[in-house]
Amino acid sequence: MAQDIFNKVNELIEEIKASKQENLEALEQFRIKYLGTKNIIKPLFAEIRNIHNDRKKEFGQLLNILKETAENKFNSIKNEMDNTALYEKSASIDHTRPAFPIESGSRHPVSIVMNEMIEIFSRIGFTVAEDREIEDDWHNFTAMNTPADHPARDMQDTFYLKNSVSQLLRTHTSSVQARTMMETKPPIRIIAPGRVYRNETISARSHCQFHQIEGLYVDKNVSFADMKQTLLYFAREMYGKETDIRLRPSYFPFTEPSAEMDVFLGTADERSKRLTKGTGWLEVLGCGMVDPQVLENCGIDPLIYTGYAFGIGIERSAMQRFNISDIRMIFENDIRFISQFKSA
Ligand code: DAH
Repeated sequence: MAQDIFNKVNELIEEIKASKQENLEALEQFRIKYLGTKNIIKPLFAEIRNIHNDRKKEFGQLLNILKETAENKFNSIKNEMDNTALYEKSASIDHTRPAFPIESGSRHPVSIVMNEMIEIFSRIGFTVAEDREIEDDWHNFTAMNTPADHPARDMQDTFYLKNSVSQLLRTHTSSVQARTMMETKPPIRIIAPGRVYRNETISARSHCQFHQIEGLYVDKNVSFADMKQTLLYFAREMYGKETDIRLRPSYFPFTEPSAEMDVFLGTADERSKRLTKGTGWLEVLGCGMVDPQVLENCGIDPLIYTGYAFGIGIERSAMQRFNISDIRMIFENDIRFISQFKSA
């Protein structure tokens, strides 16, 4: 009797090993029979108490082997079926179909123009210096030869930080001139691109925020002629090989003499005519020889060194380049507007 039940279990083990499940349904039948809640192995465990003590352990081990055999069989068949299903699924995918195109973004018109200008000056040895937008009164004004009682402060209506008389949003990138000169010894040859702020009424032509690129060159024997040649090079790279420039005398507290530079766009096309108010000349930057007082304020000996500086407005060039008629468009981040500008 005892041997009979041992034989029965051994037969079951062999039966499981030899069995074949060729589809999901057969596998489910297998699971119900050997591993389900009413499986045929469970009652065999109840038989343990009828086995003689000598062989109880042996019988218990044999039942465990039976159980494991059933579990292993089930798992390996199921794995096999899952893999086949996966393979069949992937086989139905067309691997030669072109991928979905990756949508690439576009650059902001201000960035396009700014990068181009940076590129132009980099080619002749200017390096980029960037600095803070929240500036103090000293770097923005005083160091730049515009002390508190100076009437020229009115030229740039200033945003001060709440409850502060000295912390402000920089009104021009000229503050980076002061920062750079305080930290480095000549020769200095930098451009400082960035955003500036002025408390101005917003209209189609002016905004309370805009961008500038500041330029500064300080060394021994730097002359006005050096500046003019550099600016002519810039204008021709930026606006075309034949572009003419003119320097008009002007006033800035931090340069002496000072000038404003216009480039000649002509009046042949309607756009240039409108942009230049019929004169053909577009004003693009302010410039001049760094005032000796500014050098001194920033710790550079004006008896040894001279320098020139310039400040270029970006928006005007961007508007001219891309035919943008209202400066407000530049800051509204309307995707229909900014996605039009694809850079090279
Ligand atoms: N900071 C001036 C402005 O915002 C522009 C400028 C003029 C910068 C002359 C300069 C300069 O460096 O030399 O209007």
